[in-house]
Amino acid sequence: MFENLEPEPADAILKLIGLHRDDPRGEKIDLGVGVYRDADGNTPVLNCVKKAEHWLVGTQASKAYLGSRGDAVFCNDIEKLVFGDQAVSDDRICTVQSPGGSGALRVGAELILRANPDATIWVSDPTWNNHVPLLGNAGVRLRPYPYYDADENVIRFDAMLETLGQAEQGQIVLLHGCCHNPTGMDLSNAQWDLVADLVEERGLMPFIDIAYQGFANGLEEDAYGVRLMYDRVPEMVVTHSCSKNFGLYRDRVGALSFVAKDPDTAIIVDSQALSLVRTIYSLPPDHGAAVVSHILNDDELRAEWLDELDAMRARLKGMRTLLVEALGQTAPDHDFSHIARTTGMFCYLGVSPEQVARLIEERGIYLVDSSRINVCGITEHNVRYLAESIASVL
Ligand code: LMR
Repeated sequence: MFENLEPEPADAILKLIGLHRDDPRGEKIDLGVGVYRDADGNTPVLNCVKKAEHWLVGTQASKAYLGSRGDAVFCNDIEKLVFGDQAVSDDRICTVQSPGGSGALRVGAELILRANPDATIWVSDPTWNNHVPLLGNAGVRLRPYPYYDADENVIRFDAMLETLGQAEQGQIVLLHGCCHNPTGMDLSNAQWDLVADLVEERGLMPFIDIAYQGFANGLEEDAYGVRLMYDRVPEMVVTHSCSKNFGLYRDRVGALSFVAKDPDTAIIVDSQALSLVRTIYSLPPDHGAAVVSHILNDDELRAEWLDELDAMRARLKGMRTLLVEALGQTAPDHDFSHIARTTGMFCYLGVSPEQVARLIEERGIYLVDSSRINVCGITEHNVRYLAESIASVL
């Protein structure tokens, strides 16, 4: 039977992990997968996480199943983080814990399909490379809306509004809550307001993927889009990830929230979400969610987490400035100023796929074909080599 299968190409982002690891060159740089790195190029476990893990190991009395929702306290914690404190008492919202943001995206798409077999989700062009298979393989129809002009390095906001202005009532718009992946170019608050006007006017449903809350401008600031839509529309879907802001990548911690038009509908949606989880992965992993929940409910650990999050965000900003300055010296005839206007982990470098191939081949600098770079792969030690290398392929 298996001989009927064709080989699949490796994932364009994840394959870079192995390619970089196996490259023997000392000066190699990994700008590929979206994982935070510190000034020494390491991805340490956050101090607050280490402490919460110690607490968990010392106090956990059982590892018996919790149920398909996962940890209900964690679900409430994430609702507060994403929607604001008042959300926990809002019976229109229901939340299930998920294996990372990806698990949330898939269950979200499956539930949308159960509610409407003809559902269409509009996705930004470009979007995270796994959005399309995660949502599309569930069977939902996907359509692109223009988002980024890679020649001018600006958001194609008018074109985005024009395209979404043709979306039909009931169709769904996938929006990146903050730190747009791959471009790093976020909607301003004023632009969010206009998108909300349009979504309301046309009766569209927002589906907001917020995988980097706290990495752009701050925890509260980054929730602007989610909270705005929550105030304005009757129904929405939100997927959240703790991979980046808690550094829990491999522990797979995320959440999926639905806002329904009234509490009775929310009860039905909740039951559907739980039944879907049961048929896909049965129950989510517990460890990381228990750690997050403990941090969020312990004043000292929460304060330590906020400091560590601030430090990560500051480093991302600092490395952008450093790279733009270094490129100003090595490639003075080229304009890389857009990099300083991006937020979060990523931005487009703005070089061609051929130039990306040369950076990998000739310089051991690993990045996605689209020229998306993970900014935290940059350090004070490698920025000069990186800027020289980029100049050498221009
Ligand atoms: C990324 O975009 O690099 C991250 O979200 C990791 C992934 O799974 O692709």
